[in-house]
Amino acid sequence: MTVDVRLVRSDEPAGYCAELLAVAVSESDPGTAWAALPEPLLEAIGPARRDVRGRAGHVVVVHTALAEGPARVALIGVGKSEDWNAEALRRFAARAVRAAEERELEACTIVVHPGGLDAALAVQATAEGALLAAWRFEELRSAALEPDAGPRTRVSAVDLVIEAGHRTAAEAGLAVGRALADGQNFARTLQSRPGNIATPAHLGVAAESMAREVGLEVEVLGMERIREERMHALLAVNQGSAQEARFIVLRHRGGGTEGPWVALVGKGLTFDAGGISIKPALGMEEMKFDMSGGAAVMGALRAAADLDLPLNVVGLVPSTENLISGEAVKPGDVIQTRGGRTVEVINTDAEGRLILADALDYAKELGAAAIVDAATLTGAVVVALGRHATAVLGTDDELVQALLGAGELAGERCWPLPLWSEYRKQLKSEVADMMNVGGREAGTITAAWFLREFAGDVPWAHLDIAGTAYGTEPLPYQRKGAYGVPVRLLVEWLRGRVA
Ligand code: BES
Ligand code: MN
Ligand code: ZN
Repeated sequence: MTVDVRLVRSDEPAGYCAELLAVAVSESDPGTAWAALPEPLLEAIGPARRDVRGRAGHVVVVHTALAEGPARVALIGVGKSEDWNAEALRRFAARAVRAAEERELEACTIVVHPGGLDAALAVQATAEGALLAAWRFEELRSAALEPDAGPRTRVSAVDLVIEAGHRTAAEAGLAVGRALADGQNFARTLQSRPGNIATPAHLGVAAESMAREVGLEVEVLGMERIREERMHALLAVNQGSAQEARFIVLRHRGGGTEGPWVALVGKGLTFDAGGISIKPALGMEEMKFDMSGGAAVMGALRAAADLDLPLNVVGLVPSTENLISGEAVKPGDVIQTRGGRTVEVINTDAEGRLILADALDYAKELGAAAIVDAATLTGAVVVALGRHATAVLGTDDELVQALLGAGELAGERCWPLPLWSEYRKQLKSEVADMMNVGGREAGTITAAWFLREFAGDVPWAHLDIAGTAYGTEPLPYQRKGAYGVPVRLLVEWLRGRVA
């Protein structure tokens, strides 16, 4: 379902007489909110203003009883002005959508509150917050909803009120915000689908239809082509599964025939039971989310196409399940990777790095100028950083810095961990070129070290999103479950590469 977002001018309030008008109230200066409202509206909300101090997240909804003009005004606290940024705007817009949703309204009008931000960025972030908040995953629910399934009505139209002089910037910002939110919502939908639906073959078909829709080149390698490509590590993980593997290649050719390629690689493990080194039952259902990196890469490619970015971007998603059967890879087995190097599989649950090894090798062979991978790779990253940041590790300082900046701008923070050579020793094998695990200590770093071996000399960075791609404590514009992280980070990073 698409949400219709329109821009309306602040000097034409008649154009935005919706059911609910959302206004930001700053804690530092609540008065500026009132100054921006037309006189009749101000009068209509009357003394209710006194209840509003602007604390972030505090929402007061007042009925106006106006014959013309919004039936309700939502006064939404946005906190102190020194904390104002794009992320605060996303949250503000999301709270506006939630206020409408809770009242079973299909539309709302949001007064964009730049608060010193550039007008394009302000509209972008407002659109992101509203569109991300409006997304829901309902395709598997029967029509008769459970009582606690939430409101039935969906917000399907959002008007953004902007100052008349900002029209051009606002249009540009809206296009970016829409592309980012569409890409992220696409990823969230794929993430949310359970393992019995979102199989590797399903991801392949989803990539093909999305590519057709937005104009990407797509190639989905099946078992035979995967074998021809000598992706033995992907095949080894796939051995224990009844579902065929896929290797998805999406191309956005925006940088001309001569331009360099940037590669985005995403782990597409559609269900990770751990293999013979099986995971405990408690919470195992969450392992349907082990394809979150792959979903994010597809979402980022979708946005790159939507925005027509003047870059060549290739998205690579190796996809399989990690299950158990008499044919499954066993602890102690030695397998070969695409590039020829051998790996002793100590723990079959460290499967993500195996399938990524082949994908990184493929990216390297394409001649990529930079590679960024995203993967729900280690539980250890949650121990290191909690759920508030993605870990970033890489071989190129400039690349890591650019990702840190993009994450901050996108509201999807990442934070660096070191990749010193001391950690490499933990992967030494007695029988093969390396082991696939490095012991209990520094699990996120040794996993990244494993990947590094396959990226070679290409500037490369790895995003461990095991703590950030999904969760149960959503931000206002998210919902429990799939978060679609790091689609916005990846696309802002790509946008930053456009000179
Ligand atoms: N997909 C998991 C990582 C994961 C764990 C993601 C928890 C989200 C939540 C990955 O394949 C895995 O199993 N990693 C192991 C590595 C270990 C065997 C070295 C882990 O983190 O326990
Ligand atoms: Mn695993
Ligand atoms: Zn996994």
